[in-house]
Amino acid sequence: MKKFISALISVILIFTMAFAMVGCKKGDDGVSKIGIAMPTKSLERWNRDGTFLKDEFEKKGYTVELKYSDNNVDQQVSDIENLIADDVDVLIVAAIDGESLTKVLDTAAEKEIPVISYDRLIMNTEAVSYYVSFDNYTVGKLQGEYVVDALGLDLSDTSTTYNIEFTAGDPADNNAGFFFNGAFDVLSPYIDAGILNVVSGQTDFEQVATASWSTETAMTRMQNILASYYSDGTVLDVALCSNDSTALGVTNAIASDYAGTNTVIITGQDGDEANLANIVDGLQSMTVFKAVANEAVVTVAIAELLIQGKTPDAALADTFDCECAYDTSSYDNGTGTIPSYLLVPSVVTVDNIEEELVTPGYYVWSGEYPVAAG
Ligand code: GAL
Repeated sequence: MKKFISALISVILIFTMAFAMVGCKKGDDGVSKIGIAMPTKSLERWNRDGTFLKDEFEKKGYTVELKYSDNNVDQQVSDIENLIADDVDVLIVAAIDGESLTKVLDTAAEKEIPVISYDRLIMNTEAVSYYVSFDNYTVGKLQGEYVVDALGLDLSDTSTTYNIEFTAGDPADNNAGFFFNGAFDVLSPYIDAGILNVVSGQTDFEQVATASWSTETAMTRMQNILASYYSDGTVLDVALCSNDSTALGVTNAIASDYAGTNTVIITGQDGDEANLANIVDGLQSMTVFKAVANEAVVTVAIAELLIQGKTPDAALADTFDCECAYDTSSYDNGTGTIPSYLLVPSVVTVDNIEEELVTPGYYVWSGEYPVAAG
């Protein structure tokens, strides 16, 4: 009898697995293939994104082709062409230049391959089915609010004034404007009131943008600003930087070229290891952390539904352990609004590294500094 029951259970299990395979895996060999195009390995976070996505898909039995395109737009176009030629069932793309993928994604659309725009919105193409990101405007807002709190700014008190410089991201990255605007919208009332002075006068996004989010470019620009506007002893109080790669360059410029002795408030984003070390050492004030492990989980869930021929909607957002909003109005890629799943960023300072990064398991301590877990 026991033998019969265990044989019956085995048969049921085999059937259940077989049905599950038929239900969600499409390729010739019964396994769906996922194509992932990431921008570059030279910016730390994309290494984490690529690994999380690959692991998460492979855990579920999918085959993954993961490409990094060295921050080179032509390379990314050709990488995507290859993924399409390899008949992937879903394409996940973090664009280097959001405006340059229209043509190659036409081919994806012709082959009915759904495209998930990952973290950065891909512009001017109807091929994008979904967008997964963090609330990018909020990232900038959190940076601006950090500065307001750290300096104790108050619009009704103009007696103390502070000097600030801005460093934003890559103009080819649709996110960069959201980050900058989020921060600037919080800080501009204080600029208008004369409480914050941008000594260089550089307040337009185009003036403060950093091609390729390059650490070196951000460093050189800040060195020039320090030489031109601060070498006479003018105090720099704040360097508002949109992310960690640019914050690193700005921090290095301040360390080498700033005449003042005050601690400059420096913002960032991503929780890159070098920046977390700087936060521990008091060289950077904060970073906006985005749990890319969760961004991967959300992306995989959308991809699975698409492979099953289903339509991800608001209900999916409620199924995640992390906070996730379904948004159908904020992100227009030029062809209409793209349904978006937006995760929630958080502020990390030296005081909450343990609870924000280590306790949830995203980072572990390596000596006195946090390093990414995994
Ligand atoms: C943005 C991304 C940020 C930052 C930056 C540079 O698109 O949202 O987290 O990493 O690129 O890689």
